Amino acid sequence: MNSLNRVFEYELPTEICFGLKSLQKLPEKVEKYNGSRIFVISDPGVKDAGILEKVTDQLSNIPHEEFWDIEREPDVKTIRKIQDKINDFNADLVIGVGGGSAQDAAKAVAIMATNEGDITEYAGLDKVPNAGLPTICIPTTAGTGSEATIWTVMSDKENNKKFGVGGKLIAPTVALCDPELTVSLPASITASTGVDALTHALESFVNKATQPISEALSRESMRLISKSLRQAVHQGDNIEARYDMLLGSTIAATAFNPTRLGLAHALCMPLGGKFKVPHGTANAILLPQVMKYNLAGNAERYKEIAEIFGENTENLPLHEAAELSVKAIRKLNKDVGIPTGLSEFGVTENDLDYIAEGAIGSDNVDVNPKKPIIEDLKQIVRNSL
Ligand SMILES: [Fe+2]
Repeated sequence: MNSLNRVFEYELPTEICFGLKSLQKLPEKVEKYNGSRIFVISDPGVKDAGILEKVTDQLSNIPHEEFWDIEREPDVKTIRKIQDKINDFNADLVIGVGGGSAQDAAKAVAIMATNEGDITEYAGLDKVPNAGLPTICIPTTAGTGSEATIWTVMSDKENNKKFGVGGKLIAPTVALCDPELTVSLPASITASTGVDALTHALESFVNKATQPISEALSRESMRLISKSLRQAVHQGDNIEARYDMLLGSTIAATAFNPTRLGLAHALCMPLGGKFKVPHGTANAILLPQVMKYNLAGNAERYKEIAEIFGENTENLPLHEAAELSVKAIRKLNKDVGIPTGLSEFGVTENDLDYIAEGAIGSDNVDVNPKKPIIEDLKQIVRNSL
């Protein structure tokens, strides 16, 4: 499928440290990047689960300050508030511990510590001129992959918008991934974040910008997630399943950095911004409909996805084999308890124009295997209600 004449590039700006008890490596990483005044960002759930304390215990003799009140889909106002605290504390290294929100906030404030103006001015790719403070991201969910991506996503609630700031300079300096930290995650969040990770691997794998290194990473990510998501959801303390899921999620992030994603992620932005549908849940609900729409755009790849998920494609015509991938994802969603439709979040037929118009301009649309028109996006959302 890949042309021999095609030139592709792959760069991973983040140092990844992965494994059980890898949290104990935190002091070593802080020293490596000359951290002497550390600002730690987290959320209330992570604090209540005792994970924040496990992290700060590792920093015992290094001056540090915490902000643990990050909300879901952090608002730019919160980012500005933390910026002020970081300046007052004179921090020289930022740690984000949590799901996507805490990590994305850490990445955003690290950049804003060394760049002028307001974070909203840097929306888009490669708009940030200066490298930020060193950042260590410690994921406690297996889903966003924020620990290894070049993106930070936040909300601008005043304007009902979500936006991303991206580029090599946004990538965390270190991803410290200890699967033990994901064990206490509730089943419903394990499910939605897990399907988000799968959507990263899958959308990258079928899109127009994919390339051999990303493809290899996507395959391994999907293999791990197909093997272990159900167990991670239904047996939360199964450390092997938690290990596979965090590995699958981090690997998916490294797959999609150079490729972008697809229509599910494009549609997630207006759904998260105005309707507050959690990112992972929105992706999980949309994914089967997006796949159905995309099948003809890259049937070979969808056939391979079906096979990764254990479907028997032997002797089937290509389009029928490809269709089995949709069946496999629907079954996975059902098994892990994903909500059945967007109407559960108050989205109605009357909102289709707003959502489709909010998604059509996304870079994730440009790389999708089929080029949609507004009506296509509306139909995908309509079918996902
Ligand atoms: Fe995502």
